[in-house]
Amino acid sequence: MSTDPRSRAWVEVNPLALCRNLERIREAVGRGVRVAPLVKADAYGVGLEAAVGALEPAGPWGYGVATVPEGIRVRATGVTRPVLVLSPAPPGVAGDAVASRLTLCVSDLQSVRELVEAADRLGTDAAFHLEVDTGMGRSGFDWRSVAEWGPEVEKLAHGHVRWEGMFTHFHSADEPDPGSLGVQGARFDGVVKALGGLGGSGRLLHLSNSAAALRRPDLARALVRPGIFLYGGRAGHGLPTPEPVVAVRARVVLVRDVPGGTTLGYGATYSSSRVERWATVGIGYGDGLPRALGNRGAALVAGVRVPIIGRISMDLTVVDITDLPSRRIEVGTEVTLIGADGGEQISLDEVAADAGTISYEILTGLTSRLPRILAEPIPGEGG
Ligand SMILES: Cc1ncc(COP(=O)(O)O)c(C=O)c1O
Repeated sequence: MSTDPRSRAWVEVNPLALCRNLERIREAVGRGVRVAPLVKADAYGVGLEAAVGALEPAGPWGYGVATVPEGIRVRATGVTRPVLVLSPAPPGVAGDAVASRLTLCVSDLQSVRELVEAADRLGTDAAFHLEVDTGMGRSGFDWRSVAEWGPEVEKLAHGHVRWEGMFTHFHSADEPDPGSLGVQGARFDGVVKALGGLGGSGRLLHLSNSAAALRRPDLARALVRPGIFLYGGRAGHGLPTPEPVVAVRARVVLVRDVPGGTTLGYGATYSSSRVERWATVGIGYGDGLPRALGNRGAALVAGVRVPIIGRISMDLTVVDITDLPSRRIEVGTEVTLIGADGGEQISLDEVAADAGTISYEILTGLTSRLPRILAEPIPGEGG
């Protein structure tokens, strides 16, 4: 894929791979189950508008975001489908949510009251989904006290406001032992049963993230909420590998031959052991390349895997190209930090493991310095 030769670094996004990953989730859970792809955090760093543009033709039920401003961004693309705001909203934003026809997710009675007040004030119909905490602990009504909050929520949801859905979130769907999924699923079922007399069973029920959708399709119910798998990150141990969606590339900005004993980077943590050829690449932790990859990670240059040497700086990273004497590496040569080049590949999950983190953090950490470029399908990357 060629891009503006003046770009020092960029993110390539493969929209067809994103759609194919969505199809694999659909295949796993069955066509009768609806999907709400998550596009929060700028679509996991991929770019919200690009992701929505790619996913719209696939006809999802709706989208999931974390915040009201993110939901407004989805609406600004022209999407009219439901948009779920999954995280508890701070006080004072219900009016904005109602005005943009966003579906708030509530975890306490005060949020329901605020929503009712905003909908009545604006004279606009609004729907909400109620989160049930079955063990995640960070949000949701406690599954153990449904007898207390169930009737209260039912009383509050009237007039303009409809209690449309109910969901929970798994804490360990990515773990090899899926036992906790069954436990949380049973707690959720208990809540639905307890609410039966209040019309609980007629609501849109959803539990599953990517890992749960793939590991336990039987738990999917009406709707699933996949995120990371769509964007090319592995959802968990023993689960299928998605197609890569994102490549991170940068250009060589300097090539130097250095004598043995030359120190490199902050802290001088690397020193050449012989005459070496170093390529300085125009990307650093200010672009979201994890600093933890210093002296540890790798890059692809002319289709060959080479080590990142020294500490990564804010704007620059150095790779050792001594072993590529026959290749013409010069200023402007493309370097791949994540993705494929020739037959070689550095996967998102490999980078995450090298950096001691998860693929989610790598993707969402790619900063706005890197333009997102829609790529043609990349040979060798499922395209
Ligand atoms: C409530 C909720 N549902 C679904 C997801 C999607 O999870 P994943 O990206 O693991 O598929 C998330 C992710 O953080 C979430 O917070």
